[in-house]
Amino acid sequence: MSVLVTGGAGYIGSHCCVTFLEAGHDVVVLDNLSNSSAESLTRVAELTGRSVHFEQCDIRDRAHVETILRKHSCESVVHFAGLKAVGESVEDPLRYYENNVGGTVQLLSAMQACNVKTIIFSSSATVYGEPQSLPLREDHPTAPLNPYGESKLMVEQILKDLKTSDPEWRIAILRYFNPTGAHASGLIGEDPRGVPNNLMPFISQVASGRREVLSIFGDDYPTEDGTGVRDYIHVVDLVEGHLKAHEALIKPSEQLQANTSECLTVNLGTGTGYSVQEMVRAFERASNRAVATQIAPRRAGDSAEVYASTQKASDVLDWTAGRGLQDMCHDTWNWVCKNPKGYDDSAE
Ligand code: NAD
Ligand code: WQD
Repeated sequence: MSVLVTGGAGYIGSHCCVTFLEAGHDVVVLDNLSNSSAESLTRVAELTGRSVHFEQCDIRDRAHVETILRKHSCESVVHFAGLKAVGESVEDPLRYYENNVGGTVQLLSAMQACNVKTIIFSSSATVYGEPQSLPLREDHPTAPLNPYGESKLMVEQILKDLKTSDPEWRIAILRYFNPTGAHASGLIGEDPRGVPNNLMPFISQVASGRREVLSIFGDDYPTEDGTGVRDYIHVVDLVEGHLKAHEALIKPSEQLQANTSECLTVNLGTGTGYSVQEMVRAFERASNRAVATQIAPRRAGDSAEVYASTQKASDVLDWTAGRGLQDMCHDTWNWVCKNPKGYDDSAE
């Protein structure tokens, strides 16, 4: 009886492995290593004192996925595997639809063939598009602004259709806000390839001297200091939310049982927004380093303010994020200091 973690060598997936192993689950990782290194799994084993079964495999290879599900007697899947760069998805949408949507269809088909019908899916707050009201509740209309977001929403629809067709499926759709931070040990963390797209890895690389200056994308938003506001969530809180969702699917409460005809769709955020300037200042405090900034034009597709309603996560999963901004910055800095070049010592 194992949990299959697709994309388990990646940033969030590797943290999920730790949390699930510590909770006593056997974990099998399926990853094609297109955006990660198997070194993360060596670190997971080091951290937990437990081994992780690693299968290098692409989710689009249905026959291989079936073999893995059977070989390890998997009972559930936590599905992180996917491409996640918004700009890249605009430039090469077919790659995103093929990998994220086509790949998920192959994975679900393999699961169906093996009678494995429990899945947690990594969705994103990006499915909401421009907020019409804040905080964003799960019933806020969806209107993604780019192919990456569309690919997440398409998978959500596929999962809903699957659940309608066969109520035996147990499906959680978790919409993440802005994951950041690292495991407190500093052994695993976010290791982006090339120039980071996201704010926190960029700030940390400026603090460490790997990059010169952070461009702040717009200081004329209708927010307190004019810079964009987001709901940053510590990656360990985030994966603890997955463990709660897994428990809810395996042993549904009476409330959930009454709703078994639907997928469980829940936001994972803190409910608190911080501006880019606040993030920079918090990181400077945590690292005791200066972070040089310059004001740049707004980035296309960015909203002024995005933060979650956390009510449903609290009511249905009995989960709230416990770690604050200082933990996120401190743990990111600890990871960066211990691994200045990420997992790959030979990287630029
Ligand atoms: P990541 O790139 O670190 O991890 C994704 C993993 O999936 C990588 O290890 C990659 O090698 C693997 N992968 C990609 N395509 C694959 C395929 N076809 N077959 C097998 N493995 C494949 O990204 P992450 O930040 O850990 O994100 C995990 C998931 O969470 C993604 O689905 C992402 O879209 C979603 N998500 C991430 C964020 C974020 O800001 N990090 C926010 C919302 C949602
Ligand atoms: C945060 C804030 C930027 C970089 C993205 C995806 C979303 C989800 C999380 C996967 C914004 C500002 C950023 C920089 C900056 N990923 N910024 N300078 O855009 O909220 O969400 O990651 O699902 O789908 O869209 O996160 O970290 O890119 O930006 O000023 O160099 O930081 O404008 O206000 P975002 P982010």
